[in-house]
Amino acid sequence: MNNKTININFQQIAKGSQLHDEDLLLLESALLATETSYAPYSNFFVGAAIRLENLTEIIVGSNQENASYPCGICAERTAIHQANIRYPKYIISAMAVVVKNETKHVPSPCGFCRQVMSEQEIRNKNPIKLILGHPNRECYIFQSCSALLPFAFQPEHLNSIL
Ligand code: THU
Repeated sequence: MNNKTININFQQIAKGSQLHDEDLLLLESALLATETSYAPYSNFFVGAAIRLENLTEIIVGSNQENASYPCGICAERTAIHQANIRYPKYIISAMAVVVKNETKHVPSPCGFCRQVMSEQEIRNKNPIKLILGHPNRECYIFQSCSALLPFAFQPEHLNSIL
């Protein structure tokens, strides 16, 4: 047997401690984006904000729910899709995710979003820095989204049928 272990590397930023200005701005933009969240079913208001390379504009997204529950979509994916549609030639360098509600947990993207983030890094050939937290609370910072989804299904796997 050949046991292998995968380590996930991330930084934990304590509540109230200094973040880089540009990351703080991203978190604040994500918090602001929660105001556009449509979450009458879960009452869980999530915002996401994306920084693109060589662009000052920040792209935001929020969760959008539906009475037919599976039709709903998370904040992270609305933001990523919006960035790709509006700025297809730009590279996503960072994303912040914030939950407006008082929660005891740092935001944790769902599996669908992790898969989409992972493929975005492949599309851009560039890691996306992921900042999970809140402007005034504890944050987790990952230098690459892929850290959150080891063994992600990747485009090249579609070509690996023998
Ligand atoms: N949600 C997000 O938008 N992002 C996350 O990281 C976790 C969950 C949304 C989906 C749904 O609208 C609500 O939060 C409750 O699951």
